Amino acid sequence: MRLNLSTMEKLIGDLDVLSPQDTEATEAIHLLKDENRGNKRKLYIESYGCQMNYADSEIVASILQKEGFDTTSDIAAADVVFLNTCSIREKAEQTVRYRLTHINGLKKHKPELLVGVLGCMAERLKAKFLEEEKIVDLVAGPDAYRDLPSLISQVDEGQKAVNTFLSREETYADISPVRLNSNGVTAFISIMRGCDNMCSFCVVPFTRGRERSRDPHSIVAEAQDLFAKGFREVTLLGQNVDSYKWSPEENSKAWIEKNGINNVVNFANLLELVAKVHPDLRVRFSTSHPKDITDEVLYTMAKYENICKNIHLPMQSGSSRILDLMNRGYTREWYLEKAMSIRRILGDDCGISSDMITGFCTETEEDQQDTLSLMNIVKYDFAYMFYYSERPGTLATKKYTDDIPLDVKKKRLEEVVIRQREHSLIRNLLDVGKVHKVLIEGFSKRSDNDLQGRTSANKVVVFPKGTHKKGEYVHVLVEECTGGTLIGKVVNS
Ligand code: SAH
Ligand code: SF4
Ligand code: F3S
Repeated sequence: MRLNLSTMEKLIGDLDVLSPQDTEATEAIHLLKDENRGNKRKLYIESYGCQMNYADSEIVASILQKEGFDTTSDIAAADVVFLNTCSIREKAEQTVRYRLTHINGLKKHKPELLVGVLGCMAERLKAKFLEEEKIVDLVAGPDAYRDLPSLISQVDEGQKAVNTFLSREETYADISPVRLNSNGVTAFISIMRGCDNMCSFCVVPFTRGRERSRDPHSIVAEAQDLFAKGFREVTLLGQNVDSYKWSPEENSKAWIEKNGINNVVNFANLLELVAKVHPDLRVRFSTSHPKDITDEVLYTMAKYENICKNIHLPMQSGSSRILDLMNRGYTREWYLEKAMSIRRILGDDCGISSDMITGFCTETEEDQQDTLSLMNIVKYDFAYMFYYSERPGTLATKKYTDDIPLDVKKKRLEEVVIRQREHSLIRNLLDVGKVHKVLIEGFSKRSDNDLQGRTSANKVVVFPKGTHKKGEYVHVLVEECTGGTLIGKVVNS
């Protein structure tokens, strides 16, 4: 058995650990597909931040493809470079600024290069970006992507271009995303935009605007289209999927009634609609909010085998006092109640993951112990862990002092990371000796003789490839594990 606890120090090196919600610590994702359809301008996009930002880059690529842009994965070959940015923590913004310095070097050799900043940092800084970073020609917020062709024209005419209007309606529902960097098996579908929650630490409500839900017809149609193209898993994305809510226009009422839904489509209804697209299409979703997730959602998950048994339920802190200051809308007890409902309705095998923030304003050692003890009770399979980073304009910045010294924030984060590593290993060990249905996503990172895929609970499984291919379902007997990976062999398929 490979017990990997000894590699903990490596993980703690930086202490601002990566998240699927927010992946600014990784290499940015860029266009993989190189297209050459003639004498057209070439577009290169790099995406930072959460999956929703990545999904937005696919919308941007789609809008500009229609305008005749070819895409390139080679920044040196690009005529237009877009950075789709994240503001969630200070470090995310620093990463973008460093990147712009590098791009400045490219622009010296190619003065006609158009440099645009999109996404959350563009929204936060607006026209100020143009003053602060002289090489930026274009600034577009998350709701302004339909305007990109005209913004590019403005730059072509010699002006700088800015559009950071936030919309109450825009969901890009009718735009079919160009799948970038895709493995051809798994894809994201944005089901809503914005957030109305106002957690006091969080910049998202300011950068993404008011919450709005996308028309379920277009979501189901996108899932059907993906399935027809060979995709076998979709992840429904929203900052708070549990508040998905769509009221039909008169002409859609018959459609929702036919599906047994009365009046308003809620998240449980939407999950069911997507699950019914095909039993071989796996459905995941992120992010659930502890104050809003309902038993109806849990029962819908239990009813459909193809809805994956994994819930990302960010706790943030285990202290009710801190949760109150964070304006999260739940207490420690409420959170525990939700975790228990998951165990009761979906069983022990259901994966539960979390986000945690250490060193929020006024946090004491006792609050920290509350976080560790709640972790002990729930035993997350996985967690994204951060120390608090004060963000301009947020409620916490206005109301509280960022009073926990950096070394204390980091020490507490280290404790949380160590505890989580122990729990991930304990949870993975429970899978050893069991057979799991795995959707194959491609070759393992380490060897082309092995394939890798995920269990329903979202755990990565590596196994010898045999005659199997990506996109297939196989049953894998798990024989050993690390804290991050299950290792096994196919027993039948
Ligand atoms: N909508 C999701 C989270 C989106 S942001 C939710 O409500 O759970 C992803 C994660 O980043 C958050 O869950 C939080 O843990 C972390 N985060 C957000 N703002 C932060 C800040 N100012 N400092 C540190 N971490 C932060
Ligand atoms: Fe931010 Fe809270 Fe909204 Fe999540 S729910 S995006 S943490 S305000
Ligand atoms: Fe996502 Fe970062 Fe914006 S996490 S919503 S890209 S601030």
